[in-house]
Amino acid sequence: MLITLEGIDGSGKSTLYNGLKDRLADLDPLFTREPGSPYLGDAVRRAIAANDDPMVEAALFVADHAVHLADVVRPALAEGRIVISDRYSDSRFAYQEVSLANVHPNPHRWLQEVHAGWSIRPDMTILLVLPVTVAMSRLEERTEQEHFEQQEFLENVQKNYLARAAEDPERFVLVDADRDAETILDFAEKSIRAALQ
Ligand code: TMP
Repeated sequence: MLITLEGIDGSGKSTLYNGLKDRLADLDPLFTREPGSPYLGDAVRRAIAANDDPMVEAALFVADHAVHLADVVRPALAEGRIVISDRYSDSRFAYQEVSLANVHPNPHRWLQEVHAGWSIRPDMTILLVLPVTVAMSRLEERTEQEHFEQQEFLENVQKNYLARAAEDPERFVLVDADRDAETILDFAEKSIRAALQ
């Protein structure tokens, strides 16, 4: 069973991810993330920090996904483990459709083609949704900001996430990320345990 956590920067995804480690310890899930695959994760981080070419960045996110699938996700699923990934392919469809808008003639089609036939579709995706202004005010409290963390950019990213959720309502569980962390954690834990029944 593959469960992914998605949402814009500042949505509280990392807090949820860390909270689920305690809540779901009895199930011994494999917790993992994108970007951050073995040996490529650092290259992706460098490309994000350099912010000089959206296509280089996009290609590295896809390469990171390939390593992540081959080295982490597929082996764990083959052992029958539950895999919980902080970000996964929906991040590409949400973010790169925006970052590649003036770079590639059809980012959506490219992303579809580059994932089709080999990537693994998540069984469940928990999407944290909140007003972008709230996410931005949370991000302002952090010291280091990434170039993705701009209001208009994140508005478009969240629109893309919601469009994907509307297209695939059986897979997506939408969470009001403006609620307190404990309520969100309760809801996510219940949703995951219900999906495992
Ligand atoms: P993080 O904040 O979850 O560590 O992710 C780093 C940034 O990378 C975040 O702003 C989202 C962005 N990202 C993409 O643009 N495309 C992707 O495919 C992934 C996995 C992340």
